[in-house]
Amino acid sequence: MTNVVDALQARVSSPKLSEPGPTRSHVETLLRCAVRAPDHGRLKPWRFIVVEGEGRSALGELFEKALLAKDANASEQKRDKTKLMPLRAPMVIVAIANVTTSHKVPVMEQVIATGVAVQNMQLAAVELGYGAIWRTGDMATSSVVRNHFALEPEDQIVGFLYVGTPVGEARSPVAQDLGSCVEYWG
Ligand SMILES: Cc1cc2nc3c(=O)[nH]c(=O)nc-3n(C[C@H](O)[C@H](O)[C@H](O)COP(=O)(O)O)c2cc1C
Repeated sequence: MTNVVDALQARVSSPKLSEPGPTRSHVETLLRCAVRAPDHGRLKPWRFIVVEGEGRSALGELFEKALLAKDANASEQKRDKTKLMPLRAPMVIVAIANVTTSHKVPVMEQVIATGVAVQNMQLAAVELGYGAIWRTGDMATSSVVRNHFALEPEDQIVGFLYVGTPVGEARSPVAQDLGSCVEYWG
């Protein structure tokens, strides 16, 4: 098992993914890691929709509807591309911040917690030998998609986590100069 500190620093996303996707037991592990995200007020501010197999085509059709709601004249090419988006991986996990309003824990913190849950899943997926990439794009804010998944007004689609087996060589992580984002006081 990789040391978590090494895993965090070596982590890269995998934009190209193929079969096999996570087994049912591995998906459950990912979801158990997700719900261990820090959660102010223990509000469990998340929902996860696991989309696999034929479900991905149904999600693609939903995405096409969302595209057409925004641009009724979208080209055939754009429609096809949009419809095929969920088929870019064997599994897509839709992560929704299902927030509690009128609580002392601000909605923003609940959305952040759901984001942390996504990252927990991404890291766990890599540890289990898969690859993953966190995507959002227009579909994350589309009212067609939001309505389909019955989001309340303050809920957010925090991401679509694509998970599968990485295709090709893994990239090396791009090192960032800490001087550009860190200050020490005292
Ligand atoms: C909230 C969020 C949304 C993102 N949405 C997209 C996206 O829609 N498309 C995309 O190519 N990358 C998206 N990314 C970035 C990728 O997940 C990934 O981090 C980026 O390609 C850099 O690769 P790396 O993670 O290997 O450094 C998003 C990241 C976050 C945190």
